This record gives sequence, structure tokens and C-alpha cells, in this order.
Amino acid sequence: MSPFPVLRLLDAEHYTPGPVLAEQLGVTRASISLALKEADALGVTVHSVKGQGYRLDRAIAWLDEASVAQAMGEQRRYFDLKLYDEIDSTNTALMAAATTGTPSGLVYAAERQTAGRGRRGRRWHGELGGTLMFSLLWRFNLGVADLSGLSLAVGLAVARAVERLGVRGARLKWPNDIVCAEGKLGGILIELSGDALGPSAVVIGIGLNLHLPETARQSLDQAAYDLQSLGYAGDRNALLAAILAELSILLPEFEQRGFAPLALEWEARHAMQDGRAYLHLPNGEVVEGIARGAAPDGALRFETPEGERRVHAGEVSLRRAL
Ligand code: BTN
Repeated sequence: MSPFPVLRLLDAEHYTPGPVLAEQLGVTRASISLALKEADALGVTVHSVKGQGYRLDRAIAWLDEASVAQAMGEQRRYFDLKLYDEIDSTNTALMAAATTGTPSGLVYAAERQTAGRGRRGRRWHGELGGTLMFSLLWRFNLGVADLSGLSLAVGLAVARAVERLGVRGARLKWPNDIVCAEGKLGGILIELSGDALGPSAVVIGIGLNLHLPETARQSLDQAAYDLQSLGYAGDRNALLAAILAELSILLPEFEQRGFAPLALEWEARHAMQDGRAYLHLPNGEVVEGIARGAAPDGALRFETPEGERRVHAGEVSLRRAL
């Protein structure tokens, strides 16, 4: 059996006896013990003491539909939230759902992804209970060409949400990383399908670290940080609700007016605004210059000795010059 139902019955304060778990789930004690053997592979430490039972090393605040709906209030009417214990990737699954005519507002959120994906073909690793991972399907009457600034607009919605929850120090890095001085807090993966003239369907995938254990931080290939270390005391449900609420305001605005009216607000949160940076191009070329902010279509305005370049996302990456 899946370890998730068993893990949900455990807490970090008390030991729960195996027979109690078995009875609550209507399975044998052996199934409980087998299921909990898988916990390690999920990155969860379960302490077991003979005669006393099982206890989590660290409490897990599970994703919960009712808590998200309550925290969202009025705005909940725009969304249909589906929670998964385990899924390959919420983006992959939602892209498949998008082909069947599913309307805007479907959200898949998962406790664990077995094949989480990042930008530029990278893997995305999330911690069970410690990372918010979800995707939102949104349909636009715009053509794919008019969506170039969307990833910046989504980054802005995430930044607004974390600020509203009292977090200070979260910034944006072009095109759509959420960062702070210590490292990356999260990222956005936007996937599109549609015609040049519209309409189009967009899957907006967001991964955000709330709590990253030191071991996880060290195993990642880039500096990573988490919202709890920036003072966030809430859980993933409140964060998910706050981001969806911001998106329900910002996405219709984007559809009406594009990214241009948001550019100044985005630049005010840009971690590299007016800083020296290296631009890594797909052909291996590295260009040094100054990151001047976002153009009305979401392109990066990059100042070089030869003049200003407008750089579009895709395979390009921007790194701070030391
Ligand atoms: C990046 O920083 O490269 C983007 C990371 C995006 C990760 C999220 S987690 C939820 C959704 N499902 C995925 O497979 N990826 C996105």
C-alpha cells in the first residue's frame, strides 16, 4: 500500500502504535510496517520504537483542499483544485488534460513529483512537505506570440503573494525565478499550446521551497533557499491560496493589456536590476553587460558596449557578474 495514508496519521509529538494505524486504515500491521519502509525513499524520517509505535521526525502540514478554499475566500470560484499524493509532473499531467477541452482554472497540486521538470530541460526536485508544487491551466484569447511576457507577469503574482504573506526579501530574476540574496526560492515553468492568432492554453507550473533541509540544499546544483528562513510561518495551503488569488487578478489583466503596464512593478523587484551580469547564449557565447530591466513584451533589456540588446527567454540564462 502507499505510505501516504499512514504518514498522514502520524505526528512528530507522539508515537502511534502500529495496531492503531492498522485498525484505522483497515489493513494488517505488516502492511503498515511495509508502507513505512518506503518513507525513507520519500525523504521522510520515521522513528519507530518497539512497543510504542511510529513518530515523524518533523511534522508535515499536508496539502488540504478545504484549507486552500477557506484561505482563498471569494476567489475560489475561479479554480478547481485537484490534489495528488504522487504524480510524474503536475505540468505534464495538466498539459494532457488541456487537450481535452478542460476549462481555465484547473489546478493540480502534488505532495510528490517523480519526474518534476524545470526550465531548459532540467529536473526539478521538491521536498515532501517542504515544497509547494502545482500547475494551473489558463486559457487566453491571445495568440502564442502575445504571451511572451506572461512568465514575468506570473513571477510578479508570486512575488505579490509572498509579500502579502509577510515575507520580505523575495525578488525576481529574469525571466522567472523567485530568488533572495541567499539563493533560489522557486521557479516557474510555463508551457503553451495554441495558434499564432489564438486562442491558446497555458500551463503555469510553480515550485516554491518553504522548508529545505540542509542535506537537500547541498545536493542541488545551484544555491537554494526557503521561505521559512525568510520568516514565513504559514503552510503550503495558505501560500497556494495567496498565489492563486493573485493570479486570478493578474491573468485577466494580462489578457487585456499585456505585460507593459506591469514592467515597472516587475523591475522594482528585479534582483539584478541595473547590475553587471553575464548573458549565456544558446551558441555558448557569453556577453557581459548591465541588466536594465524588462521590455513591454517581457524581453530582457541588456546593455552592452555595442548598445542595448533585447533578449527573449528560451534557452538563454542570466548570471550575476561578481
Ligand atoms: C525552474 O525553476 O526551472 C522551473 C521549476 C518549475 C517546477 C514546477 S513544480 C510544479 C510544476 N511541475 C513540474 O514538473 N514543474 C513545475
